[in-house]
Amino acid sequence: MDPNLPPNEKRERLKEFYLLIRECRECDLSSTRINFVFGSGNSNAQIIFIGEAPGKNEDLQGKPFVGQAGKILDDLLFSIGFKRNEVFIANVLKCRPPENRDPSINEINTCKKYLLEQIEIINPKIICTMGRYSTQLITGSFAGINKLRGKVFKINSRIIIPINHPAAALYTPSRLHVLREDFSRLKTVFDNFDRPENVMKIEEISYIDAGEKSGVKNLPQNSRNQLQQDDMQTDQKEGMQLGLF
Ligand code: URA
Repeated sequence: MDPNLPPNEKRERLKEFYLLIRECRECDLSSTRINFVFGSGNSNAQIIFIGEAPGKNEDLQGKPFVGQAGKILDDLLFSIGFKRNEVFIANVLKCRPPENRDPSINEINTCKKYLLEQIEIINPKIICTMGRYSTQLITGSFAGINKLRGKVFKINSRIIIPINHPAAALYTPSRLHVLREDFSRLKTVFDNFDRPENVMKIEEISYIDAGEKSGVKNLPQNSRNQLQQDDMQTDQKEGMQLGLF
């Protein structure tokens, strides 16, 4: 894919891609979903935010982050001067896991190609992974989110910024402060994108799986065992997801 596609071409490709995959039946979540939640926002966005999976509200509306966690995300975006229609928001999974249970490794491995293609088409400068699932998928690291948040990574020419999932602030209000700090770091990187190392320590990740786009590795079956305990509360979330592109 030509990384310098003009904005209207990106939009067309994203639309075509949506039409191609929206009837996906590759895993069992397709039989319980109400809507396939593709993601939404600006097809020419410089930043993609990646959550975990649609929840109840997202499944009902077919859009990402439209519930309580979505309000927190909107507020955080506003705090650094962004609107939702300037960024792109997607999830690791396109369909809601019943009762908002954790995504299975199999579901992640089946669905990740869709997210990776979206990243290829949009070609953002910055990927902000929200919570452990998207962070593990994009960085290939099994360290807990609390070990990774606060750091800034580079994979090829893309910057990866892991943060807590916004839903974490619903249950632990002190986490809102941490999220605000992380958004402020994201804005600093965005404002200094040409030379982020001048303002921040950037850790280059070099173990990218060459066979995969965007440096994402297959998650091994036992990866769940390696998850850090301190991430568990990040998962207590309500489901959520906005106008397509
Ligand atoms: N949580 C997520 O991870 N994604 C959504 O779209 C909503 C809530």
